[in-house]
Amino acid sequence: MKGIILAGGRGTRLYPMTKSISKQLLPIYDKPLIYYPLSVLLLASIKDILIISTPHDIKQYEELLGDGHSLGIHLEYKVQMEPKGLADAFIIGEEFIGEDDVCLCLGDNVFYGQALTEDLKEAKRIVSSEKKAVIFGYPVKNPTAFGVVEFDKEYNVVSIEEKPSQPKSDFAVPGLYFYDNSVIKKAKCVKPSKRGEIEITAINNMYLDEGSLKVKLLGRGMAWLDTGTPQGMLNAAQFVQSVQERQGFYISCIEEIAWRRGFIDDAQLKKLGEELKMTEYGKYLLSLKRSEH
Ligand code: DAU
Repeated sequence: MKGIILAGGRGTRLYPMTKSISKQLLPIYDKPLIYYPLSVLLLASIKDILIISTPHDIKQYEELLGDGHSLGIHLEYKVQMEPKGLADAFIIGEEFIGEDDVCLCLGDNVFYGQALTEDLKEAKRIVSSEKKAVIFGYPVKNPTAFGVVEFDKEYNVVSIEEKPSQPKSDFAVPGLYFYDNSVIKKAKCVKPSKRGEIEITAINNMYLDEGSLKVKLLGRGMAWLDTGTPQGMLNAAQFVQSVQERQGFYISCIEEIAWRRGFIDDAQLKKLGEELKMTEYGKYLLSLKRSEH
């Protein structure tokens, strides 16, 4: 399975913070926002990843993450000329995806929780063995800001609507989507919505109409954090800081995940730690021991 991170967009909702810098490069406490979705793909053992951003910002992502070899993964980059909508990821990524299945993670989505690895594994399994799509549902207080999934009494999906003014449930669809290869064909059929974007929700509805959409509910123990407003970013940063300080384990530390997944060995991890040893982050990398596996 391939992975895509969409890290473009105008970021206008965070102006002036994002006037000259891409939102997904801004920090959430001690690391750039893009580390969080990248860590989700690594946790899913996805090692072939395409990062899509604007013509203005793409260079900075390349500078930050390189070709991925230091993490034992393979990173490619592509430009999205205009923010046409999330479904555009599969059109831009067509060649990169090739014949594979694909997981899209939005560059501004932060997930954390013990069940995450199991949920990712299960989603991958469903896509590869059943050729279905897997998306998630997460209860929120402000569903109008998201894609919203409606269920019947047996928890079968009835509809998915993009930012409905009168949401039919409290379950938002987070920015993490698992699709089989037919998503490329589907993306090409999506017509622009009223707001002029080719919506991911339209793709999800195509899978729903075909009877091949699974929606997995994320439990209470899972954090899906909003970074869409300055307050959301601050809350996310405080969450990360509190957990890290209390437990001593870092959230979304891409080097640690690459090491725990066996993409890099002890010596490679040590080298990454040495490069950052003047910071707490680097010291953390240097403190990791095999025994903590
Ligand atoms: O965060 C989850 C929500 O993400 C879903 O519930 C919605 O169904 C989905 O449409 C999306 O809604 P947003 O309004 O939050 O999407 P936004 O336009 O903010 O874009 C999400 C990320 O993707 C953001 O980091 C910018 C990037 N992006 C967006 C567009 C439209 C691109 O890179 N290119 C684009 O064309």
